[in-house]
Amino acid sequence: MRAIVCGTWGGPEQLTLAEVPEPVPKPDEVMIDVHACSVNFADLLMIGGTYQTRPALPFVPGLEAAGTIASAPEGSGFQPGDRVVAILWHGGYAEQAVASVRETFLLPAGVSFDLAAALTSAYVSTALALIRVAHLKPSEVLLVLGASGGVGLAAVQLGKALGATVIAVASTPDKLAIAREAGADHVIRHTDGDWKEQVLAASGASGVSVCFDPVGGPLFGPALSTLGWGGRYVLVGFAAGQAPSIPAHRLLVKHRAVLGSSLRYFRYHDPAALRETMEQLFAWYAQGRILPRITSRLPLERTADGLRTLAERRAIGKVVVHMREPGAT
Ligand SMILES: NC(=O)c1ccc[n+]([C@@H]2O[C@H](COP(=O)([O-])OP(=O)(O)OC[C@H]3O[C@@H](n4cnc5c(N)ncnc54)[C@H](OP(=O)(O)O)[C@@H]3O)[C@@H](O)[C@H]2O)c1
Repeated sequence: MRAIVCGTWGGPEQLTLAEVPEPVPKPDEVMIDVHACSVNFADLLMIGGTYQTRPALPFVPGLEAAGTIASAPEGSGFQPGDRVVAILWHGGYAEQAVASVRETFLLPAGVSFDLAAALTSAYVSTALALIRVAHLKPSEVLLVLGASGGVGLAAVQLGKALGATVIAVASTPDKLAIAREAGADHVIRHTDGDWKEQVLAASGASGVSVCFDPVGGPLFGPALSTLGWGGRYVLVGFAAGQAPSIPAHRLLVKHRAVLGSSLRYFRYHDPAALRETMEQLFAWYAQGRILPRITSRLPLERTADGLRTLAERRAIGKVVVHMREPGAT
C-alpha cells in the first residue's frame, strides 16, 4: 500500500511517499481502507521526535482514519464495508490502517469521510477539554486562544453550542474574521499591545470563566490574568513552542485553576468518554450546531504541504488528506 513514511526525526520535508507492507491487525483491531485523515499539529511534534512518546522509526504518521472496514474481529459489531472513523496514535496517512475496536466509530448517514476526519481528533479533544475538564457552563465566558486553528475553531463552535459567550483571540484580521464567522461574540488580535485589556472589557464584570489554550508561550501570562473568580484555565497544547511556568500566587486569590487535557490520556483512562463525546458531536453536527471548516483538501502525496501550512502558521480550520479519489467520500 502507499503511505507517508517518517524515517528520521525532522520536519515535513523528510517525509516520503512509499510502498510499504499493509499493517497486520491484532485480535482487538479492525483494518480500515482509509479515505481521509486530517492534518494535526501533533503530527509535527511526532515526526520531529518531540511528542510525549516517540513511535519507533520508521513509522506512518496520521492521527485518524476515516474509511470503510476491510476486516473486523468476530463480535466487534463491525462488518466489512461499514463506514467508520477511528482515533489512532499514528498510521492514518496510508491506504490502510489498523485501529482498536473501542476507538472506532460508525459514521452516521450524512457524515462524509472528510468531515469525519476533520471532526475527530480536533473536535473530540476540544469537547473533552471544555466539557469534561473545564466543565464549561451555559452563560459562562469562554476565552479561546489560537481561535482560527484546528482545535481553536472547534472551541469557538463548541463554546457557542454549549451556550457560552465566546471571546476569540488570533494573530491576524483574516483569522479573526473566520472566528467571527464560526460564532465568536468578540474577536481580539493578540498582536495589539492592549489585548489583555480588550479581553477584560469584553468579558464584563466577572472576567473570563474558562480559557482554552492550545498556544502557550507569551499568551499564557496575560490570558491567565483575565480569569475571574473560580476561573479555569485549560492547557491543551503549546503551538508557540514553550510550555509556560505557572505563577502559583496568581491562582490563590481568585480561586483559579490551571488544568491539563489530553486526548491521548483520555484514551487510556476514560475510553467511555470518547464514545459518548463522539456520539454527542455527531448529534450536534446533525442539528447544525457545529460545522468543521475544511479549508484545504490534498492528495496523499501532498501531505507534507498540508503539514507545512500548520508549521508556518498559515492553516485555518482543518486541512484534510485524501488517500482515494475525493469523489469516493
Ligand atoms: N491536548 C490535546 O488533546 C490536543 C489535541 C489536539 C491538539 N492539541 C494541541 O493543540 C495545539 C494546536 O493544534 P492544532 O492542530 O489546532 O494546530 P493549528 O491548526 O496549527 O493551530 C495552532 C494555532 O496556534 C497559533 N500559534 C501561535 N504560535 C504558533 C507557532 N509558532 N506555530 C504555529 N502556530 C502557532 C496559531 O494561531 P495565531 O496565528 O492566531 O496565534 C495557530 O492557529 C498543538 O499544540 C496540538 O498539539 C492538543
